[in-house]
Amino acid sequence: MFHHITVLKEEAVEGLNIHPDGIYVDCTLGGAGHSETIASRLGGQGRLIAFDQDDTALANAKTRLAPYAERVTLVRSNFRYIRQELLKLDLPRSGENPQVNGILFDLGVSSPQLDEAERGFSYNQEADLDMRMDQTSSLTAKEIVNEWSEAEIAKILFEYGEEKFSRRIAAQILSHRAKGTIETTSQLAEIVKEGIPAAARRTGGHPAKRSFQALRIAVNDELGAFEEALEQAVDCLAPGGRISVITFHSLEDRICKQFFAKFVEKCTCPPDFPICVCQKKSILRLVQRKPILPSKQELELNPRSRSAKLRIAEKL
Ligand SMILES: C[S@@+](CC[C@H](N)C(=O)[O-])C[C@H]1O[C@@H](n2cnc3c(N)ncnc32)[C@H](O)[C@@H]1O
Ligand SMILES: [Zn+2]
Repeated sequence: MFHHITVLKEEAVEGLNIHPDGIYVDCTLGGAGHSETIASRLGGQGRLIAFDQDDTALANAKTRLAPYAERVTLVRSNFRYIRQELLKLDLPRSGENPQVNGILFDLGVSSPQLDEAERGFSYNQEADLDMRMDQTSSLTAKEIVNEWSEAEIAKILFEYGEEKFSRRIAAQILSHRAKGTIETTSQLAEIVKEGIPAAARRTGGHPAKRSFQALRIAVNDELGAFEEALEQAVDCLAPGGRISVITFHSLEDRICKQFFAKFVEKCTCPPDFPICVCQKKSILRLVQRKPILPSKQELELNPRSRSAKLRIAEKL
């Protein structure tokens, strides 16, 4: 059973301003909740291209999207290659860039990825330390904790987990691995706990939560992939095309917010200048100034939506 409750479904799809004949890209297919809604609104020439790097997600989505098969193309790829993957399809172009009418990102992992113990994402289910969304990529959480330097481990725990005790935890990892390979999620969860002072263990949720988030982000280079994809996504949008982004933590949201801000920048030349010399030109317009948050009703139905934020921009 593949069960993922789609977050901000209506809001994110509404944000794309779907035209039945348009071409849309779902960068994070997952359980295909957003994709199904998009596909159901297409007609005529409309097309949906959906990316995922997880074979299980793709296999499940194929069944769920079967009624729309003739207008759906599934792409097994990391979305960081969005431009080159779209170029392989027969799409309209502007110069070197394929042109589509809307692009969606619903970042992070899906519930099935978290819930299948053997994927190794979860600190409360015993499994090999894996955490790869793409089962064919080589870097695993086991490699990071057993082979990276203490400084590198402390750095990711601090930056991606916002973990205050990153140095202590990294030191704890080093002293454990000197005695033998750290193999499993529960072993690591225990080591992380030992690295956090007893008084601090009682606040801020499960003591291993932040470290597991950090490792997951590092294993999948989640922020790097998102940044690379955003740059290309803007080039691949046709004028009037929309981009909807759902983020689940402050690091992702900050990247999205700053990225959009960079592209909505207006010319700052003094009004008496005959021509623009600052070269600042708006490429995007924010559809909403503030991010959209889940409704009270959605929060009640799906606690996982708690940290979600949706930002929408339009290509000028
Ligand atoms: C939160 S889920 C998406 C859920 C989906 N919107 C739905 O309604 O069911 C995120 C999905 O994106 C995929 N994913 C995350 N980062 C990716 C990347 N860089 N490239 C391709 N797929 C990615 C994950 O494998 C996961 O299946
Ligand atoms: Zn200017």
